[in-house]
Amino acid sequence: MFDFPIKETAQNRKSIRTYTGAPLSSQDKDKIRSYIEYLSTAPSPFEGKVRIRLFDISGDSEIKNPGTYGVIKNAKTFLGVAAEKCDTAEEAIGYIFEKLILYAQSLGLGTCWLGGTYNKSEFAKAMDVKENELFHIVSPIGYPAPKTHLINKIMRTAIKADSRKPWSTMFFDRNFDTPLTENQAGDFASVLEITRLAPSACNKQPWRIVKDGNNFHFYEKREMADENSSFDIQKLDLGIAACHFELAVKEKGLSGKFIKADPGLKAPEKTIYLFSWIAE
Ligand SMILES: Cc1cc2nc3c(=O)[nH]c(=O)nc-3n(C[C@H](O)[C@H](O)[C@H](O)COP(=O)(O)O)c2cc1C
Repeated sequence: MFDFPIKETAQNRKSIRTYTGAPLSSQDKDKIRSYIEYLSTAPSPFEGKVRIRLFDISGDSEIKNPGTYGVIKNAKTFLGVAAEKCDTAEEAIGYIFEKLILYAQSLGLGTCWLGGTYNKSEFAKAMDVKENELFHIVSPIGYPAPKTHLINKIMRTAIKADSRKPWSTMFFDRNFDTPLTENQAGDFASVLEITRLAPSACNKQPWRIVKDGNNFHFYEKREMADENSSFDIQKLDLGIAACHFELAVKEKGLSGKFIKADPGLKAPEKTIYLFSWIAE
C-alpha cells in the first residue's frame, strides 16, 4: 500500500530548508498520518519503540516558536520523533524516521532532518517526552519553494551537501585493507549506491560497510561523539543507512536480516562495529 520506488526516491531526496508557506493539503496530511500509524506497528530490526508526531505550527499550535535560527524558512508543519531509551534507540530512530522522510519525498514533500537548529525545549514539551525516551530530532515537512534562500546555499556549500565520499573510503571487501569496487559488489552495487545517497549529520557519512560474500558488516566512523553525552548522533546515521540498504535489497528481491554478528575484524581508528545484514 505504501510502496515507492527506492532508487529514484533516494536520488531525488535532498534536505529542503525553504518552503512555500502553504499548509499541507488534507490529502497529504492524511497520507503522512496513515504512514506514521503504519510505522508504529511495522517491524524494525532495532530495539527501542519509536514514536512520531506531526505538528501544525500555525494558529493556536503547541509550538509557538520552532526556533530554526533562520535555517528553515516558511515551514508550517513539523514532525518530531522520540524513542524508548536503550542501546539501539538511535539506530531505531534513524531507521524508522528515514522511512517516513523517503515516503514524504515520494509524495513530492520536502523534509530536513534537524538535530540542532531548532527550539528543542518547546518541541520536547509538545511531544510530551517521557523520562525513558530519547528525543533529539525534528523535521519540517511541506512543499519546497522553487527558490532557496542564501543561508541554505551557504550551508550546503560549507558541508558539501551535494557530494558523497567515494566508494573506496566507505565500502570494503572482507577486510578494511581492501576497498570494494562497484564491479566486485555485483548484485549489491545498486544497493550500496542507494545507501551512499543517505543523509547524515553534517554530511559526515560515517557508515563503513565490509562485504563478506553476501553478508554486510556495518561500522560507524565516530567523529562527532560528545564525551559528556551518551547520545551519539552518528548512530542515527547508521540507522538511516540501514533503512536505505534494506529498502534497496527488498526492491531487488533479495532477502536477509539485520542482526549483531561481529566478524571481529581489525577496524581503523574510531571505527566501531554496530550490526550486520546477513543474507537468507
Ligand atoms: C541526524 C541528522 C541531523 C541533522 N541535523 C541538521 C541540522 O541541525 N540542521 C540542518 O540544517 N541540517 C541538518 N541535517 C541535514 C544534513 O546536513 C544533510 O542531510 C546533509 O548535509 C546531506 O545533504 P542532503 O540531505 O541534502 O543530501 C541533519 C541530518 C541528519 C541525518
